[in-house]
Amino acid sequence: MDDAGPKSPPATAQRAAKAPPCTMVIFGAGGDLTRRLLIPAVYNLAKDKLLSDNFAIIAADRTPKPPEAYRDTLAQGVRSFVSDTASGGETEPFDAKTWEFIAARITHFAGDFTVAETYARLGDLLKTTEAQFHTGGNVLFYLAVAPQLFGTIVDRLGAAGLAQETANTWRRVIIQKPFGSDLASARALNARILKSLDERQIYRMDHFLGKETVQNIMALRFSNAIFEPLWNRDHIDHVQITAAETVGVERRANFYEVTGALRDMVPNHVFQLLSLTAMESPNSFAADAVRNEKTKVLEAIRPLDFEDVRRNVVRGQYGPGHINGVPVQGYRAEPGVDPHSRTETLVALQLEIDNWRWAGVPFYLRTGKRMARRTTEIAIQFKKPPFALFRDTPVDILNPNVLILQIQPDEGISLQFGAKVPGPRLKLGTVQMDFRYKDYFHIEPSTGYETLVYDCMIGDAMLFNRADGVEAGWAVVQPILDLWGEDKSVPLEFYAAGTTGPAGADNLLWRSGRYWRPLAPASEPGR
Ligand code: BG6
Repeated sequence: MDDAGPKSPPATAQRAAKAPPCTMVIFGAGGDLTRRLLIPAVYNLAKDKLLSDNFAIIAADRTPKPPEAYRDTLAQGVRSFVSDTASGGETEPFDAKTWEFIAARITHFAGDFTVAETYARLGDLLKTTEAQFHTGGNVLFYLAVAPQLFGTIVDRLGAAGLAQETANTWRRVIIQKPFGSDLASARALNARILKSLDERQIYRMDHFLGKETVQNIMALRFSNAIFEPLWNRDHIDHVQITAAETVGVERRANFYEVTGALRDMVPNHVFQLLSLTAMESPNSFAADAVRNEKTKVLEAIRPLDFEDVRRNVVRGQYGPGHINGVPVQGYRAEPGVDPHSRTETLVALQLEIDNWRWAGVPFYLRTGKRMARRTTEIAIQFKKPPFALFRDTPVDILNPNVLILQIQPDEGISLQFGAKVPGPRLKLGTVQMDFRYKDYFHIEPSTGYETLVYDCMIGDAMLFNRADGVEAGWAVVQPILDLWGEDKSVPLEFYAAGTTGPAGADNLLWRSGRYWRPLAPASEPGR
């Protein structure tokens, strides 16, 4: 492996400039991800004038497709994206000129990704594309394929010399989640791809890091002087991280049956939220400075033994119930799911971070499908003030302050605090100060992939995972996977679809006098 990477100015200095010339090779270009998210993201970058004119796409797929029909399918994907409000933005007209810019640069390429001959042909096509679009020899390979192919494709790229950089050209590879299915497989995959690529060429993606509100956790913590002094065990009672969904398994039973909620969400998405919330301030926004701090937090999580897993981890599976008043079936009745499946669709756990900032502050995490409400949030609950002053007043309880970082939907930040209820008697009420992104900023429709694709093009890996970070995440959950794999008597608790989850999840907090923030809107019953 040649270590002579291109010399370029620091990535942060290049922000908001056009990305350098490059060819983007998408493996898995016939798939849903490409049509629904990747191509709309590239379209948005082009619309914002962030792509070089010397840009091209090679859309690599297993089967040949007529080029015009293929482009039409992609155009359709962009059209439905711009007219869809689900992204949180406002709908926008389809910009035909921008689409023409993209469409003229797409070449469809068919081949079997497991054989060497495909890569010889791809190498030839890259040379032709480089000559035609003046892409300067830079290539971004995007692996939008099934995870079993990650290792094979990287091996083949390496063997064909396609991963080779020179002093003036770069080659980078974006690898989608899931990166491994446990600690051993993640380590093995890292070891395998590091035979063909240098770490700085690898961009392990976690799409949560493409969410503006997730990136804003660092901005909130480190660009405001008022939070950091309070951000520790002296002032914080506990932290709750919730990633609740109302969707069920959808049409992904094959994947989900062998994956489950823990693997699907915790070592990746939920731990991104946890590490950004709990990490120390990095010395800069350089990718390694930030990733060092994030990894350190995960490494400081107190390792769980089997007893801890039994006490502090709860797994659940949804049964039949109602979502928004509509009856839905239970997990075991979903198409493709084993009627006796023991796969968890919800997991709730308590972790401790054993370092100077956090020792003694429980972190409660929960994620599940078919829950009462779709919400992803981080709630920082502060310690209660001393009660003495209120002892001889009608006030019988002081509610703690809670800072809520609402990741999605209704992106924003809220602070809960006590205030005197007007009137002659001393009575306290809990009030909330709310900041909503959409009240302050115009939000363009975005897939969340724009920043990540652009960052890879400019060589900024801050929002991507490094090998040690991925492995540290798996290392935390490995004892849970081990116990669940070994001991079939560990309970799987059932919860009705549309509720807040099983009783065990509540008990995790109740046993220490705490409770989850409500999931259901106040007007609706929680379960
Ligand atoms: C994916 C999981 O990585 O993240 C899905 O595989 C989950 O099961 C999804 O639904 C959640 O992402 P988002 O952006 O919809 O919150």
